[in-house]
Amino acid sequence: MLSEVEAFTASSLHEVEEFRVKLLGKKGDVTLLFDEFKHVSGDVKRELGQKINALKTAAQTRISELREALDAGNAPTLALDASRPGAADSIGTRHPVASVRNEILAIFRQLGFAVAEGPEIEDDWHVFGALNFPPEHPARDMQDTFFIEKRAGSDNPILLRTHTSSIQVRAMERQPPPIRIVCPGRVYRNEAISARAHCMFHQVEGLYVDQGVSFADLKQTLLYFAKEMFGASVQIRLRPSFFPFTEPSAELDVSCSICGGKGCNICKGTGWLEVGGCGMVDPSVLRSCSIDSQKYSGFAFGMGVERIAMLKYQARDLRLYFENDVRFLRQFFLVND
Ligand code: PHE
Repeated sequence: MLSEVEAFTASSLHEVEEFRVKLLGKKGDVTLLFDEFKHVSGDVKRELGQKINALKTAAQTRISELREALDAGNAPTLALDASRPGAADSIGTRHPVASVRNEILAIFRQLGFAVAEGPEIEDDWHVFGALNFPPEHPARDMQDTFFIEKRAGSDNPILLRTHTSSIQVRAMERQPPPIRIVCPGRVYRNEAISARAHCMFHQVEGLYVDQGVSFADLKQTLLYFAKEMFGASVQIRLRPSFFPFTEPSAELDVSCSICGGKGCNICKGTGWLEVGGCGMVDPSVLRSCSIDSQKYSGFAFGMGVERIAMLKYQARDLRLYFENDVRFLRQFFLVND
């Protein structure tokens, strides 16, 4: 009987339940054996008791094994039913920040931009100095920048990059124009964490340096990007702004994809959403990287990946993107690349 119990198999929970009742129910075989056991006397009692107990344990084990197998959607090992629908394994999903970053890079790749990366632990020169930040500029202040090491006798401390423009400096130092790159990466700023700000986030910045690059090229490139990213009916707007490394500089807005520009609570009634900064590379930046600023000109732009993800998915608390709560992340299953 023991071997029968161990070999028993079932193709439904119902069959398992029948099996349980047949053995362990009030009038089940094993229950009856226990009843009879009361009348057995003397020396056989001990041996028989052990056997009945072993049988009971075997039955319980087999029942829970079968239940588990059937619950998990797998056919029990001894009765493989090839006609059952397959149970898909959960393989996880791409993180929304990664999938938006990939989408941004794919759009610029269509325009011939290559992807360039660089170190997150940088020096002052690549993050600020070469980009025309004066020594006393507030962005260098401890309030914004995480300094790692101030090196004695050097005015080039080690720090966490605050923007991926440092990758562009490295590219310009490394190769002569034409340069056409997009630079994705994580950046750090010493800010209090809230729904709208974090001490770490992601950027994609772009750089194009060649002969005769103009502001019109910049505008068309950004318009192309916006249409690919947010749909053909989107409009862009460039608002005058200031960055030490671009002249002229502008803030890039796209028409609100939620209300179509009429004004809603996402765009705070303005019909426009800010997605990043841009401008013509300041000639002094080209000179810092040993590029002839008489011969070459360039444009640069930068945008926050989480900001675009927020506009796309309308999940408006930035912290959600870094908490790795699977209940949040699982929702991106269907929109994955
Ligand atoms: N580096 C800027 C920032 O992090 C963005 C930017 C890039 C602006 C290129 C203009 C040109 O805010």
